[in-house]
Amino acid sequence: MKLAHFIGGEWMDGASHKDVLNPATGEVLAEVPMADADVVAQAVEQAKAAQKQWAKVPAPKRAQYLYAIGRLMEERKEHLSQVLTKEMGKVIEEGRGEVQEGIDMAYYMAGEGRRLFGETTPSELADKFAMSVRAPIGVVGLITPWNFPVAIATWKSFPALVAGNTFLWKPATETPMMAYEMAKIFEEVGLPKGVANVVFGSGSDVGTAMIEHPDVKVISFTGSTDTGSKVAELGGRHLKKVSLEMGGKNAVIVMDDANLDLAVDGILWSAFGTAGQRCTACSRVIVHKDVKKQLEDRLLEKMKHLTIGDGTDESVKIGPVINAGALEKIHSYVEIGKQDGAKLLAGGEVLKDGNLSKGHYYAPTLFTDVPWDSRIAQEEIFGPVVSIIEVASLDEAIEVNNSVKYGLSSSIFSQDVNTIFKAQRDLDTGIVYVNAGTTGAEIHLPFGGTKGTGNGHRDSGVAALDVYTEWKSIYVDF
Ligand code: ALA
Repeated sequence: MKLAHFIGGEWMDGASHKDVLNPATGEVLAEVPMADADVVAQAVEQAKAAQKQWAKVPAPKRAQYLYAIGRLMEERKEHLSQVLTKEMGKVIEEGRGEVQEGIDMAYYMAGEGRRLFGETTPSELADKFAMSVRAPIGVVGLITPWNFPVAIATWKSFPALVAGNTFLWKPATETPMMAYEMAKIFEEVGLPKGVANVVFGSGSDVGTAMIEHPDVKVISFTGSTDTGSKVAELGGRHLKKVSLEMGGKNAVIVMDDANLDLAVDGILWSAFGTAGQRCTACSRVIVHKDVKKQLEDRLLEKMKHLTIGDGTDESVKIGPVINAGALEKIHSYVEIGKQDGAKLLAGGEVLKDGNLSKGHYYAPTLFTDVPWDSRIAQEEIFGPVVSIIEVASLDEAIEVNNSVKYGLSSSIFSQDVNTIFKAQRDLDTGIVYVNAGTTGAEIHLPFGGTKGTGNGHRDSGVAALDVYTEWKSIYVDF
């Protein structure tokens, strides 16, 4: 299968190409063209020309396109989920969940087309009317990661569209097929030419060209903190509005009064789901000393039943990691953990038996007695590796939770209302869960985090509109 860029409503091939590989089997799924700065410039030109008209389409009418996109995604839900699982590796149940997130976002943001509220304010002066409205910004550049090939793109592109912007979307090179499927949907619903543009290519070529282009006014990026910092630096030099959603080192806190059945389920799913490759994944368990042993025993028992393999098989619970590089990085962290004195309870190896030899599989891994300040307890691993850290009180748990440089998601299991309210106030993360794991954010709340996770912007929820609009204040004398 040959993919093509979608620029100004036309399909375009490129001079050079890259293979798209299935991480579960190593099979070549597609060939993707790789763009350069010239292709980006063509796309920006189309997007800029289209934006003038698009901004004049009333917002409720722009929203109609999102309803149509949502309906087509719903009709194709199974097909999209299968494509997603094949190119990214997450198990099919998670693939369906992710596509559903995109559908929900389409309908949710379509509703915003009827709200896009502004404000009126009494003027200080007689015979003057004062109001402020959300104005579109122009052409926006969206840079999305491979771990959520469609959902994250919908968090960015749908608010951008409903607010009257046009966009260029650069998906991760590992997962271009979902972007290609979405481009087909954009075409089929009849979005005016140039409103939605999909350009494939590397971060260093396409990403850089997007950020440097004077007519791209906003960059919305999701990815690693290292790359995000570079995006911010380059964006700053070119006076771009830059929205960053980056790494996490998320913890589940288990207090001595926790319902351990609930806690075990919450930890397992948020740590090992998507093979730990979520920015929200639980990679630390901060547990009260009185329940530590019980929790470890129960986790180990349940981990024996996690089936690992190709996620298109409905019985499989844990799929592969994205590629050989990820496998290497994860394993190197496991070695670091052992050297730093953590005790390995389970996993800690690359899986190669039988069919697994064709893909990139890492065993779900559990370390205990991990010093809170050791590297595996502080750095983002982005794989199925969990560190158990023992604490003696809620205050200590919160301090350990907040000790990392990231601040995306945190969770606390307790049955005490005072513990819960204190924790939700003091946990320094953009998202806090009570009696649930660290993953599973819904699209109608702001998504993002503090410290090394973000720069103050949010994806999804009404807050996403802040990224894609400027406040315009209007005074009318009469
Ligand atoms: N919705 C995804 C999660 O919370 C990003 O893990």
